[in-house]
Amino acid sequence: MKLEGSFSPPGDKSLSHRLALLAVLARGECRVENFAPGADCASSLEALAALGGGVERRQEAVRLRGLAGEVAPQAALDCGNSGTTMRLLMGVLAGRKGRWRLKGDASLSRRPMERVAAPLREMGARVATHRGRPPVEIIGSGLQGREHHLAVASAQVKSALLLAGLQAEGTTTVREPAPSRDHTERLLAAMGADLERRPDGAWQVRRSQLTLPERWRVPGDPSSAAFLLCAAAVLPGSRVTARGVLLNPTRTGFLTVLRRMGAAVEVAVEGEEPEPWGRVSVRQGPPLVACTVEAELFPSLVDEVPILALVATQAKGTTCFRGVGELRHKESDRLAMVVNQLRRMGARLAVEGEDLYVDGPTPLAAPRRLESAGDHRMAMMLRLAGLVAGAWPEVADEGCCAVSWPGFGRTLEALLA
Ligand code: S3P
Repeated sequence: MKLEGSFSPPGDKSLSHRLALLAVLARGECRVENFAPGADCASSLEALAALGGGVERRQEAVRLRGLAGEVAPQAALDCGNSGTTMRLLMGVLAGRKGRWRLKGDASLSRRPMERVAAPLREMGARVATHRGRPPVEIIGSGLQGREHHLAVASAQVKSALLLAGLQAEGTTTVREPAPSRDHTERLLAAMGADLERRPDGAWQVRRSQLTLPERWRVPGDPSSAAFLLCAAAVLPGSRVTARGVLLNPTRTGFLTVLRRMGAAVEVAVEGEEPEPWGRVSVRQGPPLVACTVEAELFPSLVDEVPILALVATQAKGTTCFRGVGELRHKESDRLAMVVNQLRRMGARLAVEGEDLYVDGPTPLAAPRRLESAGDHRMAMMLRLAGLVAGAWPEVADEGCCAVSWPGFGRTLEALLA
């Protein structure tokens, strides 16, 4: 089975979330083109609407009306499956006036929220979690700027603290152990925030009034594109092009890894606004070789480890993904899921401490049914693992792909034709 042709991935999820959630604090109106179509970003739009903001969907675009911080003083906000919605909202609401309850689905209800709640409390926020997890209660209060040193590189935590910092007295500084995606920082700068990067890489923000840009075109999501591009590197005879992909370097670690493995990757940057974007082609070529993915690279490919692990099963030698323990806290325990589902297909993987080891090349065989744990990135990876095994097994709960890419199945079928 081979993949051949070109496709446009859906609008980037991280950017779409941020536009919707920053509209809670910003004034003005914005026409967002190519807003992410999945259920995750719908949760952020629903939160904006429940807080009193304007959301109008028109075919390819979503029109947002900002609230300039004048939010409904009480609301129950359902964040669905979306950790980004919940964590960024915690930072947005902590400094407003009112009382809110944030809940999520079964998967989100298992995910850690103290990593945001605890540093917010240091700023004076009143935030309660349920034994560290959702639901989260927030009572808005006056905030004080603080210097935060994050224990884990997390764009969601960093973003929540910067958003709280916009509403705090004094200066809020966030320093992370390795650079995570910087979309919040770029958007804040575009919306007029008083934001600076210190020479040591830490971000500093002061109280600011934000204004929405009039128009924003969201490039395609590299984390979605990665599934089909990576599969093209291992399915014999494949050649796939993704058009209009976001190429922000804090997101393209998977391309670095594919290249290190010897894959034939071509990237053409076609624009720089609002962030670098362009076209990416991957062709199945010479046999792939294993490589080491050092921990510093992890934040730039955090959501791509499952599909890269599949690629590693087909590369000669032992690929080591260092420092990937954070995967235990994603929509599922992704570290355990990747290991146990790919092992069921005959792959050789091991976890030692925070590191994942994958031996290859190993021929895969598909059981009748694979388990996704309702995790969209697992479901997409397993569908493609099935193809590597030359099969089309049942993938439990495959509809969960719609969390990030409702059109995944259709796009895949078109490339297989
Ligand atoms: C995201 C950040 C990442 C990523 C998630 C989306 C974001 O999580 O896994 O899917 O939009 O900020 P971290 O908080 O671990 O960086």
